[in-house]
Amino acid sequence: MPAPTSRTSAQEEFRRRFGGEPEVVVRAPGRVNLIGEHTDYNHGFVMPMAIDRWVTIAARRRMDGRVTLHSIDLNDEGSFTLGGQGEPGREWIDYVRGLAWALGDAGKALTGFDGVVSGNVPVGAGLSSSAAFEMAAARAFAAVSGFDWDPAAMARAAQRAENLWMGVDCGIMDPLISAGGQAGHAMLIDCRSLDMQPVPLPRDVAVVVLDTTTRRQLVGSEYNDRRAQCGAAALACGASSLRDVSQARLEAGRDAMGEATFRRARHVLGENGRTLRAAEAMRAGDAALLGQLMNQSHQSLRDDFEVSTRALDAMVESARSAPGCHGARLTGAGFGGCVVALVDRHRLHGFVPHAVAMFTAATRLVPAVYPCEAVGGAAVVTGS
Ligand code: GLA
Repeated sequence: MPAPTSRTSAQEEFRRRFGGEPEVVVRAPGRVNLIGEHTDYNHGFVMPMAIDRWVTIAARRRMDGRVTLHSIDLNDEGSFTLGGQGEPGREWIDYVRGLAWALGDAGKALTGFDGVVSGNVPVGAGLSSSAAFEMAAARAFAAVSGFDWDPAAMARAAQRAENLWMGVDCGIMDPLISAGGQAGHAMLIDCRSLDMQPVPLPRDVAVVVLDTTTRRQLVGSEYNDRRAQCGAAALACGASSLRDVSQARLEAGRDAMGEATFRRARHVLGENGRTLRAAEAMRAGDAALLGQLMNQSHQSLRDDFEVSTRALDAMVESARSAPGCHGARLTGAGFGGCVVALVDRHRLHGFVPHAVAMFTAATRLVPAVYPCEAVGGAAVVTGS
């Protein structure tokens, strides 16, 4: 018997808990970033794809301005009143509270709802389970409140909520791809204009996420340090963002900014160029070139941006030594979490056991492996 999907279970739990049918079932996907790492907050380019793992919410509007949400996975209930969200907090319901605050601040008139949430995006692995949760909540608000779905506006609200409400200084990439992904495509995103171009995945390649199962220690402080260094590098070059800094200008500022700051900026400039070239390679169906660019991205993240770890490096090496691998790199913020590999679809059956065995021999860890399909962004699954 097939395992129940999270959609059915959110719906079933809704009936059990609230009685009657939910008005809508919505879901929003997690993401994996193919290339363009630590570039979003520098107004650069990224190329993530939404993956076939979702956070699902079954919801029905209520007219008293309350939001009540039950989490199947946490077996917990959270609630709050719209417009009186109170102080920021760090509980799971605060993602929804913070989002409601940011949407209200952006001028959206929100209606409350009763809801049940469940998901199958691995939490803490760097596959954007929190952005998926926020975008599922945003999609539920849009459905019950009756406003149009605007991926960029929703992503900006989620980013504001994360930055100002949850105190996490992340960029725009994760909510934007969860809000606006397209099936069968990665999205080339200009993080300055928020323009999104669908880029088809090369035929016959599989995107495989390899989770080291190590979790992102230090990520908050190290992430913020890297952001600050990028800002300092831009400033030393007389610019407000690294997007406006040329290679020549960066070289000229090298002594003034110091070696570590220079290397951070060198990664960002190089990564922007690689991301644009990767989009061209994908449009030309050139999986080999895309793989090489991914390999170069990892090297730069490891040596210049210094966000890799022993486990991530071992996973990358194991993947690259396995049959059918075009390229592999760490994905997401780094400091633990996942590697993304580009693999010949016909050789996947040989790739997976080889990569797993090599990694386990090197680290004594057993990785989780998720072959991923590129799916569409947040959507109403059933209902209006
Ligand atoms: C995390 C952040 C993103 C982005 C990546 C690094 O996933 O949430 O905004 O900065 O790290 O590319």
